[in-house]
Amino acid sequence: MTLDIEYARSLDRADPLAGFRDQFVIADPDMCYLDGNSLGRLPKATAEAVQKMTVEEWGGELVTGWSHWIDMAQTVGDRLGSAVLGARPGQVLATDTTSVNMYRLALAAIKDRPGRSTIVVDEANFPTDRYILQGIAADLGMDLVTIPNEDPSVAEFECITPDLLAEYVNDDVALVCLQVINYRSGARQDVPALTEVARSHGAYVLWDASHAVGSIDLQFDEWGVDLAIGCTYKYCNGGPGAPGWLYVNANASNDLQAPIQGWFAQRDQFVMGPKFERAPGIRGFQIATPPILGLTSVASSMSIIEGAGMAAIEAKAAAGTDFMIELFDAWLAPLGFGLQTPREAKMRGGHLSITHDDAAQIALAMRQLANVIPDFRKPNTIRVAVAPLYTSYEEIFIGFQRLRDLVATGDFQSAVLRESAVT
Ligand SMILES: Cc1ncc(COP(=O)(O)O)c(C=O)c1O
Repeated sequence: MTLDIEYARSLDRADPLAGFRDQFVIADPDMCYLDGNSLGRLPKATAEAVQKMTVEEWGGELVTGWSHWIDMAQTVGDRLGSAVLGARPGQVLATDTTSVNMYRLALAAIKDRPGRSTIVVDEANFPTDRYILQGIAADLGMDLVTIPNEDPSVAEFECITPDLLAEYVNDDVALVCLQVINYRSGARQDVPALTEVARSHGAYVLWDASHAVGSIDLQFDEWGVDLAIGCTYKYCNGGPGAPGWLYVNANASNDLQAPIQGWFAQRDQFVMGPKFERAPGIRGFQIATPPILGLTSVASSMSIIEGAGMAAIEAKAAAGTDFMIELFDAWLAPLGFGLQTPREAKMRGGHLSITHDDAAQIALAMRQLANVIPDFRKPNTIRVAVAPLYTSYEEIFIGFQRLRDLVATGDFQSAVLRESAVT
């Protein structure tokens, strides 16, 4: 096998998901879009669905539309649960942002463990999760213990093993917060085993699945997960700022009290009575009016995922990142790049982290000079992703070829930073 474009095309011909690319808007065919781990492409059907919702439902039905919009956080949540989370109905709400959902579930879990005073998080966790927990710990006078998994002598690829977690969990821990796929390294954690370590001490685990949802075949019910959160704008292609989701296992939901008692969590919402009385089940976690335009978009993207199936999507994420690693070994390793993601496909999701001393400048040059879109994470990481429904092997090949050439020639040095704080 020769590592050339014909080989990449032969992989596309053999790809069972290849036909799905056509369901997405590809505005610039020359662009190699390797940032689906940050914002997914626009599905053509979503543009139509949102237009139709806006004109026909909002425009035509006005306030009477609420008769069928009112439960959409739940109905779209159930759809998301079955399509991408491995969740039976009644356990998912599609609503608010990942950050707000994180706060809500973290506080509910801590309050359900009175007398415990420790929260555990990992150093490599996404900033919003760490910041929110810092705030909660300060408000409640709790200890926030951080696992130092950015230190390679503590954890390879930032990965939390059950043995490592066991060193930090004891009977004083109320809550552990971890990511299913680490946002920077792309390493995948053993969800059932880690959940069990915490549970054996009576602690909850809250899983942030933002980088896993829509890229690997999550099975929350089967894995014994209690609490999870995530977004829909990455591999689920819900669009910029599309609603996030929260999962509360049915066994836990009636024990937990969300910290904001909004009117959508009220048992008889439209009686509008004087006193809050929590609705049973997952509805008890909904705060307020659902974002109907965003939910329309999420429902539309779920149709595409349902058509492909998460098993096939996970298989393509594995094969596509395998192909990226082949190209990395042949072209990038000799140019001083490192691989910060596990080589074993079962240990990762849809993205790779490649490191380089000049990563910030190279990532800038990829966008500015080569029409290749990755993203950059401090201090030295470029993330490149396979979004299984639309990333082609040819696109990966050309993207990596352009990256190789930028660095081999030194041309990347000529990119000039303009005004944007977003990397
Ligand atoms: C792992 C992870 N958690 C949380 C967030 C924050 O999401 P939001 O801004 O939608 O609350 C992100 C955003 O990219 C993320 O990657």
